[in-house]
Amino acid sequence: MRVLITIALLLFTSPAWATDIPDADSHGAQLFTSYCSACHSLPHPKRLDWPHWRSMLHVMQQRMHERGVAEPSKEAWRQIAGYLKSHAR
Ligand code: HEC
Repeated sequence: MRVLITIALLLFTSPAWATDIPDADSHGAQLFTSYCSACHSLPHPKRLDWPHWRSMLHVMQQRMHERGVAEPSKEAWRQIAGYLKSHAR
């Protein structure tokens, strides 16, 4: 029984990275988490200031295109950008 409880706790507690970023439950954060950890570990929003994020997002869009991975919709990009903008350095 104790083993089952331990397994349940491991399964249902959030992974460390999910609680590591600000406002992790927001829609923007969830899109950011799912699209931006496909090729590398999730960068922290405080890593860059907004002007650098803005140009980085263009580069990442190119990388996604080059590698043929799923790209966010226009609306999803807007939400990711909005999330990064409000939590940037
Ligand atoms: C298709 C794969 C891919 C996806 C998806 C992707 N990246 Fe990247 N990312 C890269 C590659 C490759 C690099 C290395 C630098 C380069 O090639 O420009 C990189 C580098 C970075 C860096 C610089 C790394 C550093 O150490 O500072 C940041 C910041 C970054 N990505 C953010 C993002 C964000 C934000 C998203 C989501 C919108 C994202 N990435 C999604 C491939 C990807």
